[in-house]
Amino acid sequence: MGEIMPLLLLLLCNYLFLAKAATSNGDFIGLKALMDSWQNTPPNWVGSDPCDGWDGIKCSNSRVTSITLSSTGLTGELSGDVGSLSELETLDLSYNKDITGPLPQAIGNLKKLSTLILVGCGFNGPIPDEIGNLQELVYLSLNSNNFNGQIPASIGNLSKLYWLDLAENQLNGPIPVSNGSIPGLDKLLHAKHFHLGQNKLSGIIPQQLFSSEMALIHVLFEGNQLRGSIPSSLGLVTTLEVVRLDGNMLSASVPQNLNNLTKLHDLFLSNNKLSGSLPNLTGMSSLNYLDMSNNSFVPTDFPPWFLTLESLTTLVMENTQLQGQIPTSLFSLGYLQTLMLKGNKLNGTLDIGTADGNHLRRIDLESNLIGDFKQVGVSDVQVILKDNPICYETGEDKTYCSVLQPNSSYTTPPKNCLPSTCSSDQISSPNCECAYPYTGTFIFRSPSFSDLGNETYYVSLEESLMHSFQSHNLPVDSVSLSNATKNAVQYLELSLQVFPSNQDHFNRTGISSVGFVLSNQTFKPQPIFGPFYFDGEAYQHFGDNGHRESKKSRNIGIIIGAAVGGSVLLVLLLLAGVYAFCQKKRAEKALEQSNPFRRWDSRESHNSIPQLQGARVFSFEELQKSTKNFSQDNDVGSGGYGKVYRGKLPNGQLIAIKRAHIETMQGALQFKAEIELLSRVHHTNLVRLIGFCFDQGEQMLVYEYVPNGTLKDAISGKSGIRLDWVRRLKIALGAAKGLAYLHELANPPIIHRDIKTTNILLDERMNAKVADFGLSKPMVDTEKDHITTQVKGTMGYLDPEYYMSQQLTEKSDVYSFGVVMLELITAKKPLDRGKYIVIEIKNVIDQTKDLYGLHEIVDPVIGLGTNTKGFEKFVDIAMSCVQESGADRPSMSYVVREIENMLQQARSNTTFESPTTSSSYDDISKGSYRHPYITESPDLNAALPYPKIEPM
Ligand SMILES: *[C@@H]1O[C@H](CO)[C@@H](O)[C@H](O)[C@H]1NC(C)=O
Ligand SMILES: *[C@@H]1O[C@H](CO)[C@@H](O)[C@H](O)[C@H]1NC(C)=O
Ligand SMILES: *[C@@H]1O[C@H](CO)[C@@H](O)[C@H](O)[C@H]1NC(C)=O
Ligand SMILES: *[C@@H]1O[C@H](CO)[C@@H](O)[C@H](O)[C@H]1NC(C)=O
Ligand SMILES: *[C@@H]1O[C@H](CO)[C@@H](O)[C@H](O)[C@H]1NC(C)=O
Repeated sequence: MGEIMPLLLLLLCNYLFLAKAATSNGDFIGLKALMDSWQNTPPNWVGSDPCDGWDGIKCSNSRVTSITLSSTGLTGELSGDVGSLSELETLDLSYNKDITGPLPQAIGNLKKLSTLILVGCGFNGPIPDEIGNLQELVYLSLNSNNFNGQIPASIGNLSKLYWLDLAENQLNGPIPVSNGSIPGLDKLLHAKHFHLGQNKLSGIIPQQLFSSEMALIHVLFEGNQLRGSIPSSLGLVTTLEVVRLDGNMLSASVPQNLNNLTKLHDLFLSNNKLSGSLPNLTGMSSLNYLDMSNNSFVPTDFPPWFLTLESLTTLVMENTQLQGQIPTSLFSLGYLQTLMLKGNKLNGTLDIGTADGNHLRRIDLESNLIGDFKQVGVSDVQVILKDNPICYETGEDKTYCSVLQPNSSYTTPPKNCLPSTCSSDQISSPNCECAYPYTGTFIFRSPSFSDLGNETYYVSLEESLMHSFQSHNLPVDSVSLSNATKNAVQYLELSLQVFPSNQDHFNRTGISSVGFVLSNQTFKPQPIFGPFYFDGEAYQHFGDNGHRESKKSRNIGIIIGAAVGGSVLLVLLLLAGVYAFCQKKRAEKALEQSNPFRRWDSRESHNSIPQLQGARVFSFEELQKSTKNFSQDNDVGSGGYGKVYRGKLPNGQLIAIKRAHIETMQGALQFKAEIELLSRVHHTNLVRLIGFCFDQGEQMLVYEYVPNGTLKDAISGKSGIRLDWVRRLKIALGAAKGLAYLHELANPPIIHRDIKTTNILLDERMNAKVADFGLSKPMVDTEKDHITTQVKGTMGYLDPEYYMSQQLTEKSDVYSFGVVMLELITAKKPLDRGKYIVIEIKNVIDQTKDLYGLHEIVDPVIGLGTNTKGFEKFVDIAMSCVQESGADRPSMSYVVREIENMLQQARSNTTFESPTTSSSYDDISKGSYRHPYITESPDLNAALPYPKIEPM
């Protein structure tokens, strides 16, 4: 017995480490030839045994069966010697943009090849006919290269083909169909995907191409030069889910039997020359996305069958000769998100009913004949009626008369952690680890949705990605999505960052495995995302030295294991276990130390990891360096809390650092609450928090540097900037937008509590930025309409109602803003030698007179000239803001809209005839001018990095 144990272990050891025989000589020579025709091959491609752990190579029985080298930065050509790897089943060289030259004919020798993926490389020349010899081929992805010439008819021989993607090349000529002994794509009865978009294919789409025996789900022919009519045979392929024929030169009428495609989600027929009447698509009961824009259909009334498409999320019918009234019931389609009906002749009243509580976000009716607009209730649907009769008359409230691009600015937020300050080009992952992510772009060629502002889609994509990586045991820590945009051909593009786990970079095997999951369609997002491809970037951060060493040590391990036997193996295993354990402990410790809030985590609060969005953590040394040791020169101001320093980061960015005095330092919890609040507030008209320092007993907030000083200095002439009327309006507008954002869009809403001209800063283009949230209060849900607090603020700006009742509402800010408006007109301090600006103006104002009789009190620098109506309106608004009762004051978004109109009028210098011009502030304050359909000026959203900030 005693003899047998070590023997068994030795056998096991041999089995584990020595059983691999050397790679077949033929395969080694073949791979060596590939290696010689490339630069940048993996550094561990040395020796004569590729099957022994060469990166990207997998073998079976000493034969090379798989080469996967996506995103590894290979350059050069693919040698014809690849044809000697006759057992090869998988070849993936995706995302190596510098692999150029032709695809060699010898590729046809790879009789076992089932997966050929060359996405996003630089291949050019024709696709060789020999590709048709690959009888086992299932995946053929040659998209996003520079292939030219015709689609080889021989592809029709690939009877096992499931996936055919030749999109985004320079392919020309016709789509091949069979003819006698000549094969064609019509023979691909197992194929589910024909992705041929964005080429130069010409000729007709042959009737013969489609038949009821096919299994196609995605037919993507968009962006070619195809002519003739849409073949009615398409209607026979009832498995179809996505059809894109847009951007061709297709003509004649749409075949009626397309209506048989009851599984179709997405149909794009736009940008063709289709004629005849609009097809009746009432049978497409699954249709989500329909785009038939820019065709030559005969003029028609709004077809009632649209109303039967109950799954519709998106209807795009631009320039399609639609006329008459839009039925109100259209707007109550349960899933509708976007209606794009630009350039038609739709008329009458736009009545969107109670488009409330459903998913409708955008109705674009630019250039129609709409004369009136009705809406019941408030919703956040954006309506565009530019170039309609309703917008011809000036004086109407104009939000819907302009076009604002929808924006989506989702970025995966940190997951309950503080983003780390990372060195050089590392990036803080969603789990707040610094690392070099693998990056690239998802391109979804036909998503079934159009509301890019809905986070749900991104969150589900993140989850399914992580699930996919984890189920393949890939070393992925987390993924981050950002920058969702629709490109010119209506593909949804989305940036992806994939972060490595356990170390700060991926090795080559990690990258090629992650790349393969994305290139090979192993990853399947939810069907609503539709067909996609991924375009990866070359990864730059393999730690290749480390890699070589680890290989060496493994070899040593093998030798020792083989020579000394099982007991040593056991010891080694034990040591490995101990090592792993120690590493884990070390990692945990490092994590703890990188969190500046660790000290109060355990003691003071249960879930107190600060939730910061986009704010950096600075060390004391960093800020010390950026301010030249807090030098006198860099001291740019001070206040009750401490001093403000100007600083410069190593990347050249200027910052303003607010450094708290010892006496004014808050408890850690309070400081944490403040930075959490500030980091969640993002708007162009609010001074942006860049980060903070909570280190060596200091509490510092780091803001963007705003160069032109305070509004007070500008008004008083101290800063030497002349403020004419338009500039004053612009500044008032900016500050009002910042406040409106705090009140109405921040979540939870925030009351500033200290609005005054010294807290409004001016940037290099004289845009106003509201600063100093030191006294700000979030409105917490439980205290819906007011907060009872100790009264804080600045005399002269302080809301008397708040002062007396101690009940704070956002209307207190409105009051202070009214005082700022009066200061803008008069350049007088609000409280000056016992005179209070609000009372002073109330005493002299006379609405029957020119300039309301305020000539004496107006700042002469304004230079009002003859155009005084805007001025009077401005006074009206200011006076409504300083009404005694908060309930009588307007909301900030109302103020924003009014100043916007004034600014527009002041700039165009035309006479402004608003229905409200002649009324006094008393009327305004009754609230009777609030339009129900205006929730906010849409460009308030412009700088919002997150569509919606969720409460903590
Ligand atoms: C498809 O549509 C055509 C005409 O629209 C109709 O005659 C035919 O029966 C339909 N086929 C199926 C399978 O439903
Ligand atoms: C559209 O087709 C459906 C059935 O296919 C029919 O009931 C309906 O009347 C048609 N509508 C129009 C406007 O032709
Ligand atoms: C709207 O257009 C239709 C068809 O062009 C026309 O018959 C109708 O009179 C128009 N209605 C209005 C209110 O202009
Ligand atoms: C976002 O999308 C999801 C899934 O389609 C939906 O359930 C949810 O209601 C949407 N949210 C909004 C605000 O439209
Ligand atoms: C997102 O877009 C911005 C601006 O185009 C760019 O600077 C940034 O790098 C992009 N982010 C990612 C992760 O690609």
